[in-house]
Amino acid sequence: MAQGRVLWFTGLSGAGKSTLASALYQELVSAGISAELLDGDAVRENLSKGLGFSKADRDMNVRRIGFVAGLLARHGVTVLVSAISPYNDTRREVLASLPNATEIFVDAPLSTVTERDVKGLYLKAIAGEIAHFTGVSDPYEAPTQPDLHLKTDLLSVDACLEQLRPLAGLHQEVPA
Ligand code: ADX
Repeated sequence: MAQGRVLWFTGLSGAGKSTLASALYQELVSAGISAELLDGDAVRENLSKGLGFSKADRDMNVRRIGFVAGLLARHGVTVLVSAISPYNDTRREVLASLPNATEIFVDAPLSTVTERDVKGLYLKAIAGEIAHFTGVSDPYEAPTQPDLHLKTDLLSVDACLEQLRPLAGLHQEVPA
């Protein structure tokens, strides 16, 4: 069985990782491609329940996600990971351990994600109600050489998906 691809979406909370990963997931499923989503928020409710947001805990979370992604990919599943994964060293280490992985930098400036504040967390973080919040009071180390760099403040979801499809093994429809 062919090794599945792993698409690793990294970026600030609210940058659009989960939006893009779940849209791509739907397309993969519609195309009959076996796929799975590993989303930081969901993983933290189960596999990583109890972990916090220190570097050690985030690294543990990222390693666990990488481990599961590897198991799935070994069985031919296309895996879409959506996790802040803020530390370059750990993210690179985990990606390097996966045979068919690409790093996708979902990039939106802090001003944009703060303005969007989909979950209302930035407001709380800025008010000092959430400690160690990525981008506000905790670091985010942007990838230095991502396979794909998507500036989601400038690109529509559709425009991002167009760039993501080839990485996911989805071929664009060629007009007749
Ligand atoms: S990671 O750093 O370990 O990769 P992960 O993507 O799993 O993070 O989880 C991030 C999600 O946890 C955010 O989208 C947000 O909903 C929530 N969260 C709660 N506290 C924090 C925090 N201090 N920093 C970042 N995200 C937080």
